[in-house]
Amino acid sequence: MLRVAVCVSGGGTNLQAIIDGVREGTIKNTQIVRVISNNPGAYALERAEKAGIAHSCVSPRSFPDRNAFNEAFLAELIDADPDLIVLAGFMVAVPANVVSHFHHRIINIHPALIPSFCGKGYYGLRVHERALARGVKVTGATVHFVDEDLDHGPILLQKAVEIQEGDTPKILQRRVMEQAEWVILPRAISLIAEGRVSIDQDLITHIAPAAYEKN
Ligand code: GRF
Repeated sequence: MLRVAVCVSGGGTNLQAIIDGVREGTIKNTQIVRVISNNPGAYALERAEKAGIAHSCVSPRSFPDRNAFNEAFLAELIDADPDLIVLAGFMVAVPANVVSHFHHRIINIHPALIPSFCGKGYYGLRVHERALARGVKVTGATVHFVDEDLDHGPILLQKAVEIQEGDTPKILQRRVMEQAEWVILPRAISLIAEGRVSIDQDLITHIAPAAYEKN
């Protein structure tokens, strides 16, 4: 059973997709052992409560400095003892101590096709504003492993979404969430839970065929 800790900051729609996937069995062999937020007011925490999942808040504002937060955040994650950490709408840069402790065991969902529209300053609605301003015809979402840089680690899954005439950033964000994020994040977790994901020495990910697909 893959033990998963989910880190959230806001509405938790990606968390909900994971909760629903585990309940419906589309995410195999997985247990959400804890939901952790940096934001005490995150609706994602209410979603965890409703689903009977252990949850906690580790807010940078509760600590005298960033180092103290980083240590507390790492301690909370170690206490949860996850096999995999999922950043689902998590708005805090993951501290280096966490990245190294959970090397290649942290995945993130980014609302664009990395390497487009990612990195410093590209989060939430701003990603979609910039995509529309650039006039791209296709955008989408990416699940990637987290490394020391922002939105930079090995890419695991991507899903494209067409931009339509009249799209506003809000309309586009919703379409990317519905058609891409809520599809590829649960699938990424299931693939990892099935032991089908590897990362080679060039930091390229590989997905092994499902047992039933093997000829
Ligand atoms: C979404 O746009 C997601 O792509 C980004 O955070 C936003 C909120 O996600 N990572 P959620 O509803 O809190 O899952």
